[in-house]
Amino acid sequence: MSWHDTRVTAALGCRFPIIQTAMGWVSDANLVIATTRAGGFGFLAGATIAADQLEAEINKVIAATGGSNFGLNFHMFQDNAGQCVDLAIKYRLRAVSYGRGPDRETIQRFKDANVLCIPTVGALKHAIKAVELGADMITIQGGEGGGHTGGVPTSILLPQVLSAVDIPVIAAGGFSTGRGLASALAAGADAIAMGTRFMMSSDSPTPALTLERYLATRDTQQVRVTLAVDGMRHRMVDNPFIRKLEAASPMGRLWIALRSARKWKAQTGMSTLHMLRTFIAAIKDDPSAMSQVIMAANQPILLQRSMVEGFPDEGILPSGQVAAAIDKLLSCQQLIDEIVQEADVCLQRLHQRMQQETASLHAEQHRSAHV
Ligand SMILES: Cc1cc2nc3c(=O)[nH]c(=O)nc-3n(C[C@H](O)[C@H](O)[C@H](O)COP(=O)(O)O)c2cc1C
Repeated sequence: MSWHDTRVTAALGCRFPIIQTAMGWVSDANLVIATTRAGGFGFLAGATIAADQLEAEINKVIAATGGSNFGLNFHMFQDNAGQCVDLAIKYRLRAVSYGRGPDRETIQRFKDANVLCIPTVGALKHAIKAVELGADMITIQGGEGGGHTGGVPTSILLPQVLSAVDIPVIAAGGFSTGRGLASALAAGADAIAMGTRFMMSSDSPTPALTLERYLATRDTQQVRVTLAVDGMRHRMVDNPFIRKLEAASPMGRLWIALRSARKWKAQTGMSTLHMLRTFIAAIKDDPSAMSQVIMAANQPILLQRSMVEGFPDEGILPSGQVAAAIDKLLSCQQLIDEIVQEADVCLQRLHQRMQQETASLHAEQHRSAHV
């Protein structure tokens, strides 16, 4: 038994406690395949894979890796959320991840099919709620993490959640090194999950010009939170587009959002009825959420401009602050190997230090006993 073997690796069937998270337009079949082959566990980003391609992407990973030891991420407000649920169950995927989660009944369907439910949370109260709803494990994402993110740093959220729940906890937000992995395991986490580090890899589908922009980010303050995209805390690399969006009037922003919503509707084939139903359900839940819900339509379209079409100044660049600490693109194999080796050195050093301290304590006790 080595430190690689945790409750998470046992349950997910991967060699190392390293998880590649779902990232819109980034976590495709190829990235998941590269992660799986390198010994990690990957999630497909179900929110941005077209409904008519999702099953093929799942099959691509199964064919290349010889099994279904990977996960699917989805959001319940997606038009094809039902399809994501059905496919995860049909192919007996190891896990699903989500933010605002499915109801108890859907979670029970996953449990009956042995699909593990791993929600991502950004606050202690959400972790407790997720456990009540039946989560098998939780990913905590500290505020320094990329994409939608809370305000509590990993160094505060991780110990809080570890003290409050009994299920395995996966630490996310700011990880990219073996030192980080060693510290998370030492604190009691069963794995780390990384988004930005995998996005900034040579296996990532992100266009070269956009990756160059991420690599050129050297200051963590350049990777900041904005509410301008969809009304929620969203961490991204600062660029002219974000500044324009922030400077726009509420009407101006709404206009941009409605245009994006129309484009997204055309691309996904989402029916007007579904769109209206989604809006009405969200507004019923929380009337103040109306502009948020409309603005949520911004996200896939604005992501697409930078992350698919390769125009880093014309779309958004979701990122964790850790981007400022990453200066080269490695393959998934190289980065997982490096992280595992570095964690190994850290954990051995910790072990030796403890042994030395125990030996000197024994020597001290021996001396005292003979005085
Ligand atoms: C480019 C990018 C896109 C993301 N898209 C999604 C998404 O579609 N769904 C989701 O649940 N999380 C998304 N996230 C959040 C990540 O899954 C992950 O939780 C986060 O990146 C972890 O923090 P880190 O970037 O510091 O590693 C995204 C993050 C990035 C950087």
